[in-house]
Amino acid sequence: MTRLAILISGRGSNMRALAEACAAPGFPAETAVVIADRPDAAGLAAARGLGLEAAVVDRREHAARESFDAALDAAIAARGADLVCLAGFMRLLGPDFVARRRDRLVNIHPSLLPAFKGLDTHARALAAGVRFAGCTVHFVRPELDAGPIIVQAAVPVRPGDAAAGLARRVLAEEHRIYPLAVRWIAEGRVRVAGEAVVVDGAAAPAATLLNPMPEAPP
Ligand code: GRF
Repeated sequence: MTRLAILISGRGSNMRALAEACAAPGFPAETAVVIADRPDAAGLAAARGLGLEAAVVDRREHAARESFDAALDAAIAARGADLVCLAGFMRLLGPDFVARRRDRLVNIHPSLLPAFKGLDTHARALAAGVRFAGCTVHFVRPELDAGPIIVQAAVPVRPGDAAAGLARRVLAEEHRIYPLAVRWIAEGRVRVAGEAVVVDGAAAPAATLLNPMPEAPP
C-alpha cells in the first residue's frame, strides 16, 4: 500500500479529493499524514474532520530554506510516507529535497503546463484568449511548476467566462485527475522516460476537441 504525505497551504480541496479516494475500497494508497506549512491553513481542520493526522511544519520557524526542507523531510519520513503530493502547497522546495524524492513527489497545477506556470493561471489564460484551460498532475523538478506530465484534463473556455467560473470548472477536474494519477503511480503503471511519462495500460482519448465548434447545435 502506497502511503501518502499530502502537503497543503490553504483550503485543501485537492487534499480532500485524495483522502476520500484513499478511503474508498480497493484504492491502492492510504493517507499517512497531511502537513501544512502554516498553522492557519483551513485544510488542517478539514483533514482532522476526515479523521486524518494533520501536522504543521511552520515556515516562519525556519529562516533558511534548507532548515524548513529538513524539518519537512523528517516529518514525512516519520510517518513512513513514500509518495508526497503537493496540493496547493505554496512554497518552492529546494533541489536536495526534490532530488531525494525524485519521481515520488507530485504536484497539481491549474493550467495545461507548460503554459501558465505560477499564480493567477485562470485570469492569465483568459487574457491570452486560449480556447482550452485545464489542469496538470506532474512529477516535481526543482524549477517552479516543471516536471514530467502524468495526466492533464482540458476544460473548454466559454464565451464570457470569468476567472472564478473557469477556476471552478477546472477545480472539479483537478479533483478527478489527482486521485487518478496517484492510483496509477500506486499501481506501478507510471514510468518516466526522459522527461515524459508513460502510463501502462491507459487508453488514448477517442476524439479531437474543437473550441469553438463550427456550428451551434440545432
Ligand atoms: C489548486 O487550484 C491547485 O491546482 C493549486 O492550488 C489550488 C489549491 O486548492 N496548486 P486546494 O487547496 O486544493 O483547494
